[in-house]
Amino acid sequence: MIDESGFVTLRAGETSLVLSCPVGAAPAFVYWGPQLEGTDPAVITMMSARQHAPGGTDQEIEASLLNETGIGINAAVGFSAHRNGADWASVFRVIEVRQPTEHSVEIISEDRATRVRATVQIGLDPDTGLMTCQTEIENRADTDLSIDVCAVASLPLDLRATRLFGYTGRWAGEFRLEEIGPFQGSYVRENKSGRTSHHSFPGLIAGLPGTHEQTGLCYAFHLGWSGNSRTRVDRLSDGRAFLQMGEYFFPGEMSLAPGTTYRTPPLYAGVSNRGYSDLSRKFHHHLSQSVMDGRIRRKPRPVHYNTWEAVYFDHDHDTLFALAEKAAEIGAERFILDDGWFGSRRDDRAGLGDWWPSEEVYPDGLAPLIDHIIGLGMEFGLWFEPEMVNPDSELFRAHPDWVLRAEGLEQISSRHQYVLDLTRPEVSDYLFERLHSLLEGHAISYIKWDMNRDVHHPGSQGRAAASRQAQAVYALIDRLRAAHPQLEIESCSSGGGRADYGILKRTDRIWTSDSNDALDRQSIQRGASHFFPLEVLGTHVGPAKCHITGRRLSMRMRVATALFGHMGMELDLLKEAAADLDVLKAGIALHKQHRALIHSGDFHRLDTPDHVNAIGVVARDQSEALFSWCNLTGHRETLPGRLYVPGLDSGRSYRTRLVWPQPARSISQPSVLEALNLNGDGAILPAEALSQIGLQIPLLHPETCLIYHFEMV
Ligand code: DGJ
Repeated sequence: MIDESGFVTLRAGETSLVLSCPVGAAPAFVYWGPQLEGTDPAVITMMSARQHAPGGTDQEIEASLLNETGIGINAAVGFSAHRNGADWASVFRVIEVRQPTEHSVEIISEDRATRVRATVQIGLDPDTGLMTCQTEIENRADTDLSIDVCAVASLPLDLRATRLFGYTGRWAGEFRLEEIGPFQGSYVRENKSGRTSHHSFPGLIAGLPGTHEQTGLCYAFHLGWSGNSRTRVDRLSDGRAFLQMGEYFFPGEMSLAPGTTYRTPPLYAGVSNRGYSDLSRKFHHHLSQSVMDGRIRRKPRPVHYNTWEAVYFDHDHDTLFALAEKAAEIGAERFILDDGWFGSRRDDRAGLGDWWPSEEVYPDGLAPLIDHIIGLGMEFGLWFEPEMVNPDSELFRAHPDWVLRAEGLEQISSRHQYVLDLTRPEVSDYLFERLHSLLEGHAISYIKWDMNRDVHHPGSQGRAAASRQAQAVYALIDRLRAAHPQLEIESCSSGGGRADYGILKRTDRIWTSDSNDALDRQSIQRGASHFFPLEVLGTHVGPAKCHITGRRLSMRMRVATALFGHMGMELDLLKEAAADLDVLKAGIALHKQHRALIHSGDFHRLDTPDHVNAIGVVARDQSEALFSWCNLTGHRETLPGRLYVPGLDSGRSYRTRLVWPQPARSISQPSVLEALNLNGDGAILPAEALSQIGLQIPLLHPETCLIYHFEMV
């Protein structure tokens, strides 16, 4: 709603947003936070006014939507551009405000002197209140405009939200949340890796000191973008704080010719008064209902079998046929042939770019294997790494100039590969033709789209082109999807290096991490769950001894960890112990029994001591729930603690059973499991008791995971 004083108020999902945008004035955030029912915007403005800060400007410099250079604020600048050094200080003034829907607004502002126009689009998700914000910059002069910085917006931070959590990580150790200690000045994370990155996932969470998983006020932010990014929080010496997220640009990279525009990626921002888990649910719901395209909702997500850790590059006809038979017997519904099937790809030093089946390994092409897999009742999926080329490949020998580079500098190779310049139409056309013809000629229902290196010199035709390269990747995927509307795509980048809402707009799941170590996975998946629902997280049961960490974990633990996600297997089924395969088969059957709930229910993380990771899902109609309690390490007290079950209907009772492992045994007797008959038919317990008294967890060895099912009676 726009009032005559130029205030815009949007309300949805217990969230209120108030903007001040009278024509001729600077557009500004007035309020964004938990819903205000009846406070007049003029009152909010009055209450937000600050007094003169001694030692500061005579009149406080008011923040604007973009905090552009020209307003004179000398910290937290969100927009900075120039024309060869001139026109460096734009100030935007509102020229028009449009309200396309009840829950969205478009604020058009312009600096008539520097001839730059900024259009900020903001919308609240009608269900969750999650805010999406995107900005477009237009060069309205007749000379080029260089944009150095363009955050999506400059969001004022609630000063009470002093606990900040950012993301760090590494290959095989993604989504590590790190608490940022108190500071004045700036917290900045710059990602220049040419992908979303393993180390600086563009997500940030802010909470009050007393906020927990199930209670309290908190905020979260995510940039839906798969390229370079900058996240910053500025705490000014005058006491104000701002959050900004946007693309990171290399020098001269974002140059707008006269009449052209730059559009930022979307910033997603959420607020909850009910703790971090509720905030995650808002992000999950918004992603699956409004960002992803919904094709996937038509059928249950099939259980995967992936060949990577079973055979690596050693593709052998008999082994693959036997693996397919075993996988189908154990319960796989989709078989994915990973790296190693094409060109001269017998190891990671050759063949990338040559996207046709290896004549040496597949003399009759892929059809016999695909037919076998389909005959076994499974779908077939195939691995690609389209953006890459090995110098030792036919493609590179024919087109050595098709790679991204900085003029005059030696190429930096990584995993023996270079990055193709997808901004050149002939390169994207080649890749499209190769993938398209394979998809047309075979029954391939799924591709794993991998990307296995950082980009160090993202240059094309003498200029930095990281942003255009990321857009070109999107365009290629979009083109392929348009030609093959039924195709499902996984976004993989050495594990979770390209996981974000930008890529999920055009793909169906992410490969969460290359580490299949269940203990690592407990924390990686927990970190990812702040922004990603379980349905999009690829989770595989790996070999008994993890190939990356060397750790041995029981099949029960590996199954329980992979069960809460889009489940699959990635191990040599021909070598695993028979007893373990029985456990695996039972685990997959359990996943299938509960996957509708796992992939659509309301997600909860629980507050537990450090030695535990407890998570769960509750059906949206509260008819059932599934919770996992994982004892990661030893516990401090003699007994491991209690599971306080959230989210159930407090007026009802639930049949409570322990469904994994079956039967579970406590180390000490008599055990609570027998007392409540939890291994058997279970106990009927009131929801209020489950949430307020909790279930005593039996005494467990470290690295043990229990799964409880609750069914409303
Ligand atoms: C990295 C991926 O994350 C792995 O799962 C596997 O597909 C390899 N690349 C193949 O090269």
